[in-house]
Amino acid sequence: TRPHRIALIPGDGIGVPVTEAAVAVAEKALGGRLETVRFPWSCDHYLETGAMMPADGIETLRGFDAILLGAVGWPAKVPDAVSLHGLLLPIRKEFAQYANMRPHRLLPGVEGPLRKAEFGILCIRENTEGEYSGAGGRVHRGTPGEVAVETAIFTRLGVERILRFGFEQARRRSGRLASVTKSNAQRHSMVFWDEVTRELAAEYPDVAVTPYHVDAICARMVMAPETLDVVVASNLFGDILTDLGAAIQGGLGFAASANINPGREAPSMFEPVHGSAPDIADLGIANPIAAIWSAAMMLEHLGEAEAAARVMAAVGAVTARGIGTVPGQDRTDAITAAVLAALD
Ligand code: NAD
Ligand code: IPM
Ligand code: MN
Repeated sequence: TRPHRIALIPGDGIGVPVTEAAVAVAEKALGGRLETVRFPWSCDHYLETGAMMPADGIETLRGFDAILLGAVGWPAKVPDAVSLHGLLLPIRKEFAQYANMRPHRLLPGVEGPLRKAEFGILCIRENTEGEYSGAGGRVHRGTPGEVAVETAIFTRLGVERILRFGFEQARRRSGRLASVTKSNAQRHSMVFWDEVTRELAAEYPDVAVTPYHVDAICARMVMAPETLDVVVASNLFGDILTDLGAAIQGGLGFAASANINPGREAPSMFEPVHGSAPDIADLGIANPIAAIWSAAMMLEHLGEAEAAARVMAAVGAVTARGIGTVPGQDRTDAITAAVLAALD
């Protein structure tokens, strides 16, 4: 069988060491059947060339089987709104990676801040529109009458396809789906979201769907996470809920993410939930597990379920021994070496 062709975008800060770790693990799990092409697109690249990626960047990526990304953003060098709208967000949008899957559960040996350890949440975040549409503007800059508008755009196509994806995932798992809204305050977008949810619910009589307001589900994720299974949310709500999900699973160093194009018309992209972590970027202590878990999700997507399972078993064997479970305690290289050794 031919090797899988992966576009590697390490990006900024800890994105570089954690993707290196993830590639090493994925390569070993596949017995070398992985071909990677590295793209240096980052904030430094922006300072050198004036762009986060070349004008034909999207077309270049289109030919790959998948994309593995580290993190983008270094606010001291380039404003975040410039770097993220110049690289990460256009990839998600152009490749219609509309389903962002973010699993939250405790790995063996990881305690997390909650007393409750038994939970397994799959957050499904709408990844291409909503609050991230980029539509808006500012007028009367610098005057007392200044106004800034950020328009959240929700299309029937976009809302229906992410909710359908949520129903399908719920059907495959527990049959329970939590739909996140704020329809008490947002009387257009979220009322629409609730209506489409009810329409689809009629097609999925085997799925029990419960709407939760986003504020209420935040509290529930901390107080009673075991009552949740598949959680579907809009772009911004999903972004916020998945850092909370990361926190209850022990920290951002454990939270993985898959940006999926379900129709496979374009490559999907795999990346940890976390960012470039400028505060620890030079210390060699970034936890690579989130990136390695993301690479396992990539292997699964590429049809390599057996290799993906071996990676997750290796990660679990390592954390069960207390390696990589306490932030800052073990070095990136040591955690990676332990996972590689556990693959044998
Ligand atoms: P962040 O996720 O980079 O860091 C938040 C905190 O978590 C920091 O204290 C950091 O040290 C810690 N942390 C994160 N990942 C860790 C890991 N693997 N191991 C140990 N500790 C870890 O969030 P931020 O500080 O808000 O953002 C920094 C930059 O990254 C910004 O430019 C932001 O826009 C960008 N960002 C990019 C992505 C992405 O590319 N997908 C995601 C989030 C943030
Ligand atoms: C994430 C990140 C991005 C997002 C930022 C960096 C634009 O926080 O992947 O969760 O909000 O989607
Ligand atoms: Mn985020």
